[in-house]
Formats: sequence, structure tokens, C-alpha cells
Amino acid sequence: IIFNQGNAPDREALIVADASSRTDGSPAVYDIPVVGASFAQGEALAQPGATAFVEVLPAETRTDYNVIAEVRGRDRDNVVMAGAHLDSVTVGPGINDNGSGSAALLETALSMASLKPHNTLRFAWWAAEEQGLVGSTSYVEKQPQEELDRIALYMNYDMVASPNYVPMVYDSDESTWDASATIPAGSTAIEDLYESFYTKVGVPYDDAEYSGRSDYQAFINAGIPSGGLFTGAEVLKNERQAEIWGGVAGEQFDPCYHLACDAFENQALDALDVNSDLIAFAMLTFAFSTESVNG
Ligand code: PHE
Ligand code: ZN
Ligand code: ZN
Ligand code: ZN
Repeated sequence: IIFNQGNAPDREALIVADASSRTDGSPAVYDIPVVGASFAQGEALAQPGATAFVEVLPAETRTDYNVIAEVRGRDRDNVVMAGAHLDSVTVGPGINDNGSGSAALLETALSMASLKPHNTLRFAWWAAEEQGLVGSTSYVEKQPQEELDRIALYMNYDMVASPNYVPMVYDSDESTWDASATIPAGSTAIEDLYESFYTKVGVPYDDAEYSGRSDYQAFINAGIPSGGLFTGAEVLKNERQAEIWGGVAGEQFDPCYHLACDAFENQALDALDVNSDLIAFAMLTFAFSTESVNG
């Protein structure tokens, strides 16, 4: 029996093996990273020899909505797009994941609402990312090719204020989702702009890899130049990173990743501050011109 939450199955699984099918004497219950309060008994279930009573309910079907807002530019056929997922996992409120990206993007959208930019700016707050990138995938799949052709680029903001953060820029050279590398992973021009911003404000940055675990994926699949920011999830900060950015080596970038404690306190306000500036800066830069990205 595998309980799975979100789109990181390797991490967020509670596995209770069927003891009756065990033939080699190995423990019937495996290493269990419990996801949160609602799985609190998972620890007890992990004891070899324990009996688990599991009630499996039929899957529930719900409707959820993407929220899309647009600032029309003089050029309606050249759209600069940015998105953040608005949903959280069910066990917690999801303040860093992804209230952080959603709020930063909202602030940028509000501050640009009365502009008349050259290019058209489109903001997306995605539904059901945690259920498997559902909202963004459905959005891209529903656009006719001529609409997709109008989208100059897409920027993704998922977890931009992790408490034990490293500011990371999605890096085109680092991709784990397309082993055969048949589709180029992301835009180096977007990456370069982000890196120039961090350099300008004196904030060191690192690379993030395109793992296919967030809403940029549908855009990359559609051949739209993409980029994004990330400040870390379940991976542990190493010594070198702690020397550069402070924080705690040996601890997760976000110790409350997908837990009930991803609540209001679970955000680094200094990271949120600089990343909000970056999000606005990138939007404004591309509002004038996307030539660096599209040639
Ligand atoms: N998309 C993940 C989530 O919402 C966040 C994440 C992105 C984690 C990339 C790791 C790598 O939970
Ligand atoms: Zn998540
Ligand atoms: Zn997320
Ligand atoms: Zn880079």
C-alpha cells in the first residue's frame, strides 16, 4: 500500500508492505518519511510486526481553476508569461510552497496593472500543481498552436522563500527530466537576466536543475523558452552552501516541506524580498523587449 502526496513519490510515500507476502524475513515495513500530522500514526505502523488497518476510500473528483490575469500591451501578439502554483498539499497551508511565489507574483501584477507596456504581460496562478502539474498542463494543452506561438517566454516561481534557502536559478545545463535531451531545457537568456540581477544586488546564487517537478514543464514541452527561481525543498544544505548563504548545514532547505508546519513563520523574508524584486525586474525587462530570448 502506498500513500502518495504530491509529485515527489520517492520522498513522500508511506509504505506498508503486506506481511503475508513476505518470504525472506525482511522487515515488512520500510523506511517511512511521514508526511505530516494526518499520517502521525505512520510512525507506529512502521514497527515490524504491527498490524495496519487501512480504509481505502474511493477517489474524490474536484474541480479547480487556474487564475489568469493579463496586462495588455501595445503588442498583443508577444506575451510575457509568469506563473506560480496557488494550491498546497492537503496536510499543510503551504506558505513557502507556494504562498511565497504566489504572493510575490501577485505583488508584481498589482504594481504593473496600470502600465501600458510594449509587450503583453500574463500572470498565472496555477491550480492543482501538487496533484501532478494539472493546472499548467491543462492550460498549455488547451491553447491552440497560434496562441502558444504568441507566448514569448514563461517564468516559474515555486518556493522562493525557503527558511534555509539558497537562491537558485534554473540552469539549462542541468536537467534530469529529459535524459535524452531531445528538448532543450529552458532559456539561457532568462537565466542570464536572473543571474545579472543577483550580481547587481550582490546576492550569490546557485543553479537549480530542471527536474520536471514544477509548472515550467508543460511550457518546455511546448517549446516555449522558460526559466525560474527556486530556493530549495527537501534537499539538505551542505557545508559549502552554509558558508556562502548562512543557515544550517545538514538541514533541509525547507524543513517544513509538505508538512503541516509550512505555516506563516515558514518563510525567509529576506529571500522573499530579494526574489520579489527579481520577479518584478524580470517582468519589467521583458515588458519592453523579449529580443534577448527570442532573437
Ligand atoms: N514542485 C515542487 C512542489 O511543489 C517543488 C519542487 C520543485 C521541489 C523542484 C523540488 C524540485 O512540491
Ligand atoms: Zn509542493
Ligand atoms: Zn511547489
Ligand atoms: Zn546558470
